[in-house]
Amino acid sequence: MHKDGKGDSGLRSRASYGKQDKDGFIHRSWMKNQGFPDHVFDGRPVIGICQTFSEFNPCHTHFRELADAVKRGVWEAGGLPLEFPTMSLGETQIRPTAMLFRNLMSMDVEESIRGYAMDGVVLLGGCDKNTPAQLMGAASVDLPAIVVSSGPMLNGKYRGKDIGSGTDVWRFSEDVRAGEMTMAEFTAAEAGMSRSPGTCMTMGTASTMACIVEAMGLSLSYNGTLPGVDARRKAMAHMSGVRIVELVKAGAKLSDILTRTAFENGIRACAAIGGSTNAVLHLLAIAGRAGISLDLDDWQALGADLPLLVDLMPAGRYLMEDFHYAGGMPALIRELGDALDLDHVGVSGRSLREIAAEAANYNQEIIRPLDQPLREKAGLTVLRGNLAPRGAIIKPSAASPELLVHRGRAVVFTSIEDYHARIDDPDLDVDPDCILVLQGCGPCGYPGMPEVGNMALPRKLLERGVRDMVRVSDARMSGTAFGTVVLHVSPESSVGGPLALVRNGDIIRLDAQAGIIELEVDAAELAARKEAWIAPERTYDRGWYSLYIDTVMQADEGADLTFLRGRSGSVVTRESH
Ligand code: FES
Ligand code: MG
Repeated sequence: MHKDGKGDSGLRSRASYGKQDKDGFIHRSWMKNQGFPDHVFDGRPVIGICQTFSEFNPCHTHFRELADAVKRGVWEAGGLPLEFPTMSLGETQIRPTAMLFRNLMSMDVEESIRGYAMDGVVLLGGCDKNTPAQLMGAASVDLPAIVVSSGPMLNGKYRGKDIGSGTDVWRFSEDVRAGEMTMAEFTAAEAGMSRSPGTCMTMGTASTMACIVEAMGLSLSYNGTLPGVDARRKAMAHMSGVRIVELVKAGAKLSDILTRTAFENGIRACAAIGGSTNAVLHLLAIAGRAGISLDLDDWQALGADLPLLVDLMPAGRYLMEDFHYAGGMPALIRELGDALDLDHVGVSGRSLREIAAEAANYNQEIIRPLDQPLREKAGLTVLRGNLAPRGAIIKPSAASPELLVHRGRAVVFTSIEDYHARIDDPDLDVDPDCILVLQGCGPCGYPGMPEVGNMALPRKLLERGVRDMVRVSDARMSGTAFGTVVLHVSPESSVGGPLALVRNGDIIRLDAQAGIIELEVDAAELAARKEAWIAPERTYDRGWYSLYIDTVMQADEGADLTFLRGRSGSVVTRESH
């Protein structure tokens, strides 16, 4: 045994499977009930496969097959693959919002990786919060890790046309409310939208994170775009199994790849793909685990000036299958060229420069060259001002250009229930120039920061043909959503942020070009309102909700829990018997 308790080969799995005593008997014997012969415990790398298959998570229903493909690769490379389950977050199914459980899942992932005798891990995730949860957990342990995402669903189809997950739901439901679509048509679209296993096939949060992961070097090429059911995704999963064994044998760590450069490339790639606003929270949280200093200003400095190159919904027209057939992320990396740090070396062992050199752009309509972007300066923009002292964000590529600089009268909703109760009231005092303000939807307030920031417009304005208005909240919005929507206002209203002080009729000024969100109410008046402000009554006093509310950080810091920042490493803990 080595002094570090890891045993002969230096692998941490040897502390369990390499022991020639009672403890070694216990660790091996019970595993042999799965039919493993003696020699699989000969010191080969043990690879954990973090499984998030769940029938409550439709985006992950093909993960049993993908896990089998990873296992083939691990065996081939001389490793021992062992699959383990964790929590799985089905974005469209779990209440009150999957975001409430991202940090909980990250704890499950972290402690499973550390507690079990594995030397490396393959992370099978995909649906929005699962990828960040897995990377947060893995970063806090810091074994070698490779991401194998579930991949997007096949393009949605309705009446001979492509329809996009989420994006067209928002569109169709507004058409129904405006009287332009029947319920029968709505139901037919519902059946045609989600036709195969996989994640939303728009550039929602799942695709955003899978593509960012690829640009960060945390997966093999085409992880971001290969459809979930494409045979080549299984081949990629197989090769990821081969590669993780090689990384373990080489003594690599996740932190070798998850560097500041990786985050910078991720932020830049997010701008070029028109990525989800949720990526801001997730990269900040992952960086917090990895001990990398990253903040909102980095998003502004690194991404805001970059152009939108990928023509995908919700910012554009096409869907993930189209992006893949056009050349996927390698083609985009090639087009971005030196806008990325091409010397970054990822889990494949190759630099982005080498990957780009072999890539081709097969459709410049979908992946634009750098000099013919869909939109200039399209990265996520950070806003500050007296309404958001610690920042807010807006996604210009999904907004109406004419609303990006706008002054308007606030129409305030104190909760999502208040909003639902009044938004379609014919007597609601609202016109198209107003700014819809929603309070009480931040990390603590909801709790969990739900995706309600892209509030649907008042029916009476929809009927007049209005399709966008400025909206401001401490909530998030779905990565598949669009509109001139100011999100993640920090501090949130329920902890007494200035958003809580907005009243009907106040004037709000948005200037996305200058990075400003200002409440045009004088400081003395705001101070008086703050004095009179009463914190909302606490509704949860036990369990996860209670721990979450007590310890969650604000959106500008990634909404992780205070005590989860940083890492505890991969040290082998005490024996169990
Ligand atoms: Fe799972 Fe969109 S709901 S990725
Ligand atoms: Mg979502």
